[in-house]
Amino acid sequence: MDKLIARAAEMVINSNLTLALTGAGISVESGIPDFRGAGGLWSKYDPAEYASIEAFRADPEKVWQMLRDMDEIVSAAKPNKAHIGLGELEKMGYLHYIITQNVDNLHQEGGSRNVIEYHGNSNTLSCLWCGKKYKSDAKRSEFPPRCECGKILKPDVVFFGEPIPPEALSRSFQLASSAKVLLVIGTSALVSPANTIPTIAKQNHAKVIEINMERTHLTNSITDIFLQGSAGEIVEAVVQEIKRRGGGNHLM
Ligand code: OAD
Repeated sequence: MDKLIARAAEMVINSNLTLALTGAGISVESGIPDFRGAGGLWSKYDPAEYASIEAFRADPEKVWQMLRDMDEIVSAAKPNKAHIGLGELEKMGYLHYIITQNVDNLHQEGGSRNVIEYHGNSNTLSCLWCGKKYKSDAKRSEFPPRCECGKILKPDVVFFGEPIPPEALSRSFQLASSAKVLLVIGTSALVSPANTIPTIAKQNHAKVIEINMERTHLTNSITDIFLQGSAGEIVEAVVQEIKRRGGGNHLM
């Protein structure tokens, strides 16, 4: 493992455009269960019934039961060693952008600035009927939160059947096309179009470093270095190795 960490650190040091694609696995050590693991959100709630835009339109009150469950867990969560390590790498000039599928805000709380929220975020709520937007905090005492027009509000996260925010989609495509190194952390890479990012990067000759507790379908196909373990421990080890190699501040 030490050799693999050393190789990964060297790749990052020698890259002038490094991205991270993150998924729910990076927040598991913060106490937020992932989606597809044992005890994951989709073992409790069927995504077709709770996470599609059709389901929300048909029965928003039911979908809010899941959203409230998630919100309670997410609002108590704090960034872990993986979020903090990525924040540090950005400050040192070694990580240029994070593309996250998560909507938990933990990258920003962990010190990262350049975060592309591919599946939106839960800081705001919108009315699908009249278009009015609200801050989630302003509606925290209401369940389910309602618009002044009387309809139930939807958080600005991407539900199945909804488009990816256009700016996140085009920026991610552009960055993946020119990245030299892509860190893929804590994602099963089963959900499209986010899972096209590793392929696009690889086709454009990026090195792919995958960090996951388990192997994924990427591991034997496009991953160059597979670092098996928890995101917190592995990210911390890579950051320490970069520092040990004298990687103070990287000139960009
Ligand atoms: P998944 O639940 O599909 O995958 C989580 C991945 O993290 C798995 O590969 C786990 O092995 C890994 N993992 C779990 N704990 C870990 C840890 N401590 N350290 C490292 N890896 C760990 O979650 P995502 O890939 O993020 O979308 O799912 C993608 C999308 O599917 C989500 O954004 C969400 C969901 O449906 C929407 O709701 C639109």
